Amino acid sequence: MNIGLLGMGTIGSGVFEILEKRSDIRVSRVLDIRDIAGLEGRLTRRFEDILEDPAIDTVVELLGGLEPAHTFAVRSMQAGKHFVTANKLMVSTHFSELMRVADEAGVEFRFSACVGGGIPYLYNLLRARRADRVLEVGGIVNGTTNLILDTMQSTGADFQEVLLQAQRMGYAEADPSADIDGLDARSKLSISMNLAFDVCIDPAAIPTAGIRHLHKGDVEAFAALGYACRFLTRAVRQEDGRLSAYVEPTLLPASAIEAAVGKNDNLISFTGEYAGVQKFFGQGAGKFPTGYAVVEDLIDILGPDRLPLCGRYAPTDLANHLVSQSYYLRTSAPLNVEAESLGENRYRTRPLPVGEMHSRAEEMRRADPELFFAGIRE
Ligand code: HSE
Repeated sequence: MNIGLLGMGTIGSGVFEILEKRSDIRVSRVLDIRDIAGLEGRLTRRFEDILEDPAIDTVVELLGGLEPAHTFAVRSMQAGKHFVTANKLMVSTHFSELMRVADEAGVEFRFSACVGGGIPYLYNLLRARRADRVLEVGGIVNGTTNLILDTMQSTGADFQEVLLQAQRMGYAEADPSADIDGLDARSKLSISMNLAFDVCIDPAAIPTAGIRHLHKGDVEAFAALGYACRFLTRAVRQEDGRLSAYVEPTLLPASAIEAAVGKNDNLISFTGEYAGVQKFFGQGAGKFPTGYAVVEDLIDILGPDRLPLCGRYAPTDLANHLVSQSYYLRTSAPLNVEAESLGENRYRTRPLPVGEMHSRAEEMRRADPELFFAGIRE
């Protein structure tokens, strides 16, 4: 297998280092705008040098972002090259188009590293789909926010201080808003839903609340109430077949398994009608864990036993009025929900539908931009 590698950043250099030790997969060309020592003769700034090289059979995209990654994906597959990526924003945004292009071109399109980094989560969802009906997917899928929540809880550190630590360690997105506002997690949830439920979910339709406005005082209040806070994704197939999905900070009993997940680790689950709950734990980000998942995809393409991705992937609306829960709310705005006071502008709401809480919180945020809320899971 001959690879054209797009992007020699954190994950790209991880993939490169792993592949340099193998004899069956060779990195033939690398696209990057920087001069990089050790790549003489292989480095190019022109995508066409990869596209038009008939010896390159597979393109690996690790640039991130929507463009030019999306254009490169479509052009690579239309040119008959297999395509592997870790770009969850691009895959979740253009899911049905990329599936169609891969199908029409008769090439493999793989993106296991998009959810859970080195954890074989999407691979096992595909396996489950062959023999089971998936009822629920979700969990902790963002390492940066887990590091922030865990460290704030265990050391009393400030939000900004821990965010800088995650950036230094190479976990945070280039623009960490994608982590702390939940956009990274919602891309991962939409990809998981598409494979689990054979749908095509618009990530922007998933109600998403982040942790940008979490204060030290909130974390102290959670502990006093006996809760730990984790940043969770959740999608459920309801009894009538409709789907609900949301991404939000969530208060869990300190005994919950998710509450024990520390540092930047991920814990991602699915529930099957037959299999029951399965949980996958490990490193969801970083140079080698994510690089490793990309290499696994390449080996799957080479091997005889690849799992088919085929599905209808029909666009589907969400039904978020079907799930209700109580919320922790801290705001100085006049309340537009029924709630009991916990003191100091903190409240516990009466159970209300998830979609309704997200819209009401946005209304209150106009009067109080620092508003923070979190679901409460008993
Ligand atoms: N920024 C992401 C995280 C990287 O922190 O989990 C892995 O997708």
